[in-house]
Amino acid sequence: MSISKEVKRITTHTLQAMKAKGEKISMLTAYDFSMARIIDAAGIDVILVGDSASNVMAGHETTLPITLDQMIYHAASVIRAIKKCLVVVDLPFGSYQGNSRQALDSAIRIMKEAGAHAVKLEGGEEVAESIKRVLSAGVPVMGHLGLTPQSIYKFGTYTVRAKEEDEAAQLLSDVKLLEEIGCFAIVLEKIPAELAKKAAESVSIPIIGIGAGPQVDGQVLVTHDLLGITKDFQPRFLRRYLELYNDMKGAVEKYINDVKTRDFPNEKEQY
Ligand code: KIV
Repeated sequence: MSISKEVKRITTHTLQAMKAKGEKISMLTAYDFSMARIIDAAGIDVILVGDSASNVMAGHETTLPITLDQMIYHAASVIRAIKKCLVVVDLPFGSYQGNSRQALDSAIRIMKEAGAHAVKLEGGEEVAESIKRVLSAGVPVMGHLGLTPQSIYKFGTYTVRAKEEDEAAQLLSDVKLLEEIGCFAIVLEKIPAELAKKAAESVSIPIIGIGAGPQVDGQVLVTHDLLGITKDFQPRFLRRYLELYNDMKGAVEKYINDVKTRDFPNEKEQY
């Protein structure tokens, strides 16, 4: 008789219990089956199918061009790979800002066609109605405040947000609002560490930081940055665990050389 090895899946409730216990939440991006399988097997709590796929996968300068269909393709590939973690999928630019009905339709497509577990969208007060409508259909929503890359043309730069008092106050007010309307967690991107700490202490839902210091409930990074596949991006908040750009380039150079010199394939590498 085989013993059932059923895995206990991470849910939005698991994350909230982790915050209550003071256990930190780990989150990373993935956009494809192979990467998601490795990250899930390593024991990550949350995979974010981020609209950073627009930069990392498609080579666009911003996150704006990626479409809902493309996000669904990435998300479905990730979902096929994972056994344990929670998968959150970004609603891309233009798929939820129009009105709450549009937000609901987009979220439903992501849940139905990709099999995602939750969606993330950027903004506070200005998207509250959209968030409420998505939540009303039973779709869990993660918020995203601070540096919100879909608004890059409004901000003008990718520098730290909410350094001034009025923007910091608005951020704290938005954090409270997102908790009140029912978001299960919030990403805070590139804001002062003291402000992020204040935000995390002000709510009972998890605050997940990227460039927001250590005193929040979890951390998220773009996996390709952490692995050193993206080469020229080195913000202060990023810790690189590998330098894969160089390693992969070296491996490909070696392969090319082996082909050219007739070293590959050898006698054992043929039928
Ligand atoms: O799209 C993304 O990768 C993100 C993270 C940076 C939080 O939103």
